[in-house]
Amino acid sequence: PGKYKVVMIRHGESEWNKKNLFCGWFDSDLSDKGREEASAAGKALKSEGYEFDIAYTSMLKRAQITLNTILQEIGQTDLPIEKTWRLNERHYGGLTGLNKAETAAKYGEAQIHIWRRSFDVPPPPMEKDHPYYETIVNDPRYAEEPKKDEFPSHESLKLTIERALPYWNNVIVPQIKAGKRIIIAAHGNSLRGIVKHLDGLSDQAIMELNLPTGIPFVYELDEDMKPVDSMVFLGDEETVRKAMESVANQGKAK
Ligand code: 3PG
Repeated sequence: PGKYKVVMIRHGESEWNKKNLFCGWFDSDLSDKGREEASAAGKALKSEGYEFDIAYTSMLKRAQITLNTILQEIGQTDLPIEKTWRLNERHYGGLTGLNKAETAAKYGEAQIHIWRRSFDVPPPPMEKDHPYYETIVNDPRYAEEPKKDEFPSHESLKLTIERALPYWNNVIVPQIKAGKRIIIAAHGNSLRGIVKHLDGLSDQAIMELNLPTGIPFVYELDEDMKPVDSMVFLGDEETVRKAMESVANQGKAK
């Protein structure tokens, strides 16, 4: 076994996951199914006896509600919670609010796959006349951070990693090394960034990874933060496989 254990979870299904819309920094709520996934995740953690010292999450409510639901299930509602934009979903730029299947029908599935999963090709930027531009840019929760010059208008996975990894390295890792038991409730692509880093996956290999909603996974790390055990899901293999496949299929034209 590794010296340290870290639990990560992608938020439960959101309203916009359900409608199959590119979401990014839009603050979608959880769907009813997403709330159920979150409480099932909490129950699974409880039955395995997990307890935590610090929780990390994004500025977005789908991740925060998932976390709070888990903390209720495990009886740790008083846990310190750190929220950061650096764990937000990757910013989906001009695609935000578009239906993934319709976009695939319009531009082709190959292009959608590039936009969703390529390492360094960002989606088109969110322009000032985009229907969600004002809502996101002027959201008071971003009043202090990110600063104007680091506020994204679109992000590739590469850019997402460039803003998430400093937080992992400078804030989370020191707490892990101090022996704190950590849970991170975040997003498909911000977590893919951390996974790529921890497992040293190539730019090519990370394209194949689709994280399911609402299923916790565990890393066991040695003292140099090298994984002894990677991405061990708290769920049966078949359920996890199907959930990953359905995320991949969101980019298919119907
Ligand atoms: C979104 O932002 O639309 C999703 O949460 C993640 O999307 P993806 O699986 O299409 O990258």
